[in-house]
Amino acid sequence: MPLLEVTDLRTSFHTRNGVYRAVDGVSFTLAKGETLGLVGESGSGKSVTCYSLMGLVPQPPGRIVSGTAMFDGTDLLHCSPAQARTIRGKRIAMIFQDPMTSLNPYLRIADQLIEPLLIHEKISRPAALARGLAMLEAVGINDAAQRLQAYPHEFSGGMRQRVMIAMALITRPEILIADEPTTALDVTVQAQILELIKKLQQEFHMAVIFVTHDLGVVSGLCDRVQVMYAGRLVETADTRTLFRTPRHPYTQALQRSIRHRFPYIDPLHHLQVELVRRYRAGQTDERIQRGIHISINGIAAGLRNTG
Ligand SMILES: Nc1ncnc2c1ncn2[C@@H]1O[C@H](COP(=O)(O)OP(=O)(O)OP(=O)(O)O)[C@@H](O)[C@H]1O
Ligand SMILES: [Mg+2]
Repeated sequence: MPLLEVTDLRTSFHTRNGVYRAVDGVSFTLAKGETLGLVGESGSGKSVTCYSLMGLVPQPPGRIVSGTAMFDGTDLLHCSPAQARTIRGKRIAMIFQDPMTSLNPYLRIADQLIEPLLIHEKISRPAALARGLAMLEAVGINDAAQRLQAYPHEFSGGMRQRVMIAMALITRPEILIADEPTTALDVTVQAQILELIKKLQQEFHMAVIFVTHDLGVVSGLCDRVQVMYAGRLVETADTRTLFRTPRHPYTQALQRSIRHRFPYIDPLHHLQVELVRRYRAGQTDERIQRGIHISINGIAAGLRNTG
């Protein structure tokens, strides 16, 4: 039996322009100890999928329209708040895309780090602090004892991201959802953080859902990959198969991109070609137009980044 089984998840946002189906019928499973990559272009619904599982979709404007997410006999989408509290933040933890907004600037690192322990495990403060210290050391922060007393602004971006990882792992979750945990970091720090997640995963026998734009990251970390496009899963394959024989145009484009010098331009360029083709063929709808818009912006951003 899979550790997590998501069936027909649909999450919409009610906006001024109508109902926007951000996640549109997503089904997948996650096995114990498995690392599942979730890739797809910006706006394809990766974060909203994760938020839906974590009960973090703002309602309104968001609404979980349908679906189940079974974890150890509990449906995460329909359980009571009390049941949810025993699972989320303890047995399932998440690292967010943006560590700057996820840490409270007014609280010392120590207090933020041990909060999940105080809530979920009801242990004494000194015992929680001892675990906090051990966890900060485990994520590679030097002088951890002194650092515990610091505030987030005294940490670098990479250190804040490590703190986020420590916070997520301190309760030894069975599932870690990592939403682009390294996007904000420079390449060397990125590599260190990825190694760290890999190491801790093996130590804790965790399953990981790893959201990323980067197929290079996927090939180094994931057993299986799912590709999201416009709210749907368009391709699921074990990592090796996906790299050998990608089926969806977006995946093909992504795959080509890692052999090229301009990783951020190429996938979007190919995607744009495909979108324009469909647009010309009259297969147009709001999403395809939005896709073209995104890809044009992406190419512009890619050109800026690579000079
Ligand atoms: N609070 C919200 N209100 C309205 N629309 C939203 C809200 N949150 C997300 N959306 C929409 O849902 C869609 C999916 O967003 P999501 O954040 O899941 O994308 P993503 O795949 O994680 O993209 P990225 O790679 O940029 O992080 C987007 O079009 C976004 O505009
Ligand atoms: Mg996202």
